[in-house]
Formats: sequence, C-alpha cells, structure tokens
Amino acid sequence: MSVLELLRLGNPLLRQVSKEVSDVPDAMLSQLIEDLQDTMEAHQGAGLAAPQIGVPLRVVLFGGGGLNPRYPDEMPIPQTVLINPVLTPIGVDLEDGWEGCLSVPGLRGKVSRWRRVRYRALDANSQPIERCVDGFHARVVQHECDHLDGVLFPDRLVDPAAFGFLSELEAAGLIAKVPNSNEEADTSINNICT
Ligand code: NI
Repeated sequence: MSVLELLRLGNPLLRQVSKEVSDVPDAMLSQLIEDLQDTMEAHQGAGLAAPQIGVPLRVVLFGGGGLNPRYPDEMPIPQTVLINPVLTPIGVDLEDGWEGCLSVPGLRGKVSRWRRVRYRALDANSQPIERCVDGFHARVVQHECDHLDGVLFPDRLVDPAAFGFLSELEAAGLIAKVPNSNEEADTSINNICT
C-alpha cells in the first residue's frame, strides 16, 4: 500500500499539462493506479488525478465506496479509472455546484460545470470505456480531468464571494451543515476531487 503525498495549490507541478499515456510499461501504469487508489481511500476522497501525486500523466480515478456521506442524495459513482480521457459536453446546460479538492484543503467554491457530458477513455485494463453521465458524476469527471490540464476549481469560480473555508460557508448558511460532521471529516469526505 502506498499512500503518497498530495500536492497542494501553489505547487507548480499542479499547473502542468499532463502527457498522454503511451508506451508506459504495464507494471508502471498498474503501480500508478494502485497508488491513486490507496491515496484516495486514505483521504476518503471522491476522486484523484495523477498530477496530484506528482505524476504528469493523463490518468484519473474517481467513485467507489458507495454513498458519500456528504452527498446522501447523490447516486454512488462506480469506481472508475480513466486513461487519456476525452470529455464532450452534451447539450448546453450548465449547473452551479460547490466543489472542494484534496489539493485545496478546507476550502470550497461554487463552480459552473456542464450538466451532461460524454467521456471516452481507456480503463484500468486498457479497454475502451464510454459513458454519458450527468449531475454529480458529470461534475466529478470534469473536475478530475481539469487537473490533467493544470486547472483547479478556484480557477473556475462563478463568483469570488462564493469561495472560502467550509466552516465559514456553513456558518453563513451557504453550504448545508452535515450533522455530526467535524472539520477533520469535512476536509476529506466532502472534497469532490479530494
Ligand atoms: Ni481536485
């Protein structure tokens, strides 16, 4: 098990455009996927992208683990590995929603995303995968794929005022407070990338 250090906002490596996976030995790719899984689970995250653990390759992981306690109304997302993902919006509808990120601990911001997207990629076994998704699933995959282009959620705020520490946003009533949660849990479980 390898739980790796997460890079945080300000680290220039998070701003790189990651490279397509090609000619990467299977063993190296398998190790990367395992490291992403171990690191994401250790932080109870909903997703993680390879550049967040310092690997500039176009690989993301998200979902798994059943219902997220911070999003009890959201359908669970199956655990998904995407290699060289390509996203295409379906329709023109946008949706605002609060996001966090393990690379931006403790903070949340409101971000506009495509409501529905199609994604195509290779899966963990290098087999083609294609899905059309909406809502929370669509938001998560857009957030993760942004990391591959060096984009983090604070770059996409709909309003600079809709950004801040989770505890402050909860106290202000901007984000619903989850009963029995504490700051420690909030900084991990709630992060959609995180
Ligand atoms: Ni993130």
